[in-house]
Amino acid sequence: MTDIFTSKLSKSYEDVLAVDSLDLRINGEIYGLLGPNGSGKTTTVSMLTTLLSPSSGSAQICGHDVTTEPKAVRKCISYVPQYMAVDIRLTGRENIDFYAKLYGIRDKTERKRRVNYALDIMDLNERADDLTKTYSGGMQRRLELAQALTHQPKVLFLDEPTVGLDVIARKMIWEHISNLKKSGITIFVTTHQMEEAERYCDRVGILKKGVVIKEGTPSYLKSALKSIITIKSDGKMPNILPDNVDFIGNENGSVVYASDNGADILPSLIKKYDEAGIHVYSSMVRDPTLEDIYLMSVGTEAADTEQFNRAQIRRIIMKG
Ligand SMILES: Nc1ncnc2c1ncn2[C@@H]1O[C@H](COP(=O)(O)OP(=O)(O)OP(=O)(O)O)[C@@H](O)[C@H]1O
Ligand SMILES: [Mg+2]
Repeated sequence: MTDIFTSKLSKSYEDVLAVDSLDLRINGEIYGLLGPNGSGKTTTVSMLTTLLSPSSGSAQICGHDVTTEPKAVRKCISYVPQYMAVDIRLTGRENIDFYAKLYGIRDKTERKRRVNYALDIMDLNERADDLTKTYSGGMQRRLELAQALTHQPKVLFLDEPTVGLDVIARKMIWEHISNLKKSGITIFVTTHQMEEAERYCDRVGILKKGVVIKEGTPSYLKSALKSIITIKSDGKMPNILPDNVDFIGNENGSVVYASDNGADILPSLIKKYDEAGIHVYSSMVRDPTLEDIYLMSVGTEAADTEQFNRAQIRRIIMKG
């Protein structure tokens, strides 16, 4: 049985087709759904967690259909939305206990056991009896995860689990997520953090306008590119590029190119900048990252780079 199985799963809101014929097979892994704002991530998660009914197609979680057996689906999943409220007037322990009650765990001894287990697994024991309002952002997020664990889900859905957290808290959250996977829970996570997805997700799907346009392990996806050249200049790029160099997008103020042999081609690329009278501040050749693949796949529409896009378009016209 596949933990998450969808067949042509689609959702439209009036005239917007938010999710378009999604076919997912996810099992015993951390699966990351990536995509720009509005690409359909939350809509997908909402359908998989029975909060939203599909317009067409189907989805099964742990073998149960989200439309015809929503109760059975809810029994085997947990969902931590992007902004979940913990009650800051309660302690961590009380928050989890409240959740366990909501999930219908009536037996006091059993509830206590599960609350302790959740506190333990999320490293919250020491502060369990402090008011939640004294918790750091990372601890609050761990508390939300702990709440989601009280009814022992087989599949856990996380929407942007590390948003707003500092580097150390992020790492800690991901380590906990990895441990949950090792304990047998399938994790479906949405994120905008490419580095984190590359490091911690077993597989990722890149969503663009409701369609998964790329899917696979991060290393498989990265193998589509051989080497990356980044160039920091005074803000423009040449209209004409050497053969075998492809414009990918803009990352952290640099222009990113892909090439089969970056080190060999770099001098001729810099020459094009010189010829165009563009000053190059720095250049670098490196291995591809998932972020490069993402940029290449979803494009740079979101970036404030009208200039670059114009140059890219000119180049495409010239190539054609
Ligand atoms: N309730 C709604 N009514 C109408 N349109 C909606 C509704 N919810 C989402 N949409 C539209 O559906 C598309 C997908 O939205 P969704 O929220 O699933 O994207 P997302 O990938 O989660 O974005 P973000 O990264 O910003 O969270 C967008 O075009 C959005 O405007
Ligand atoms: Mg969303």
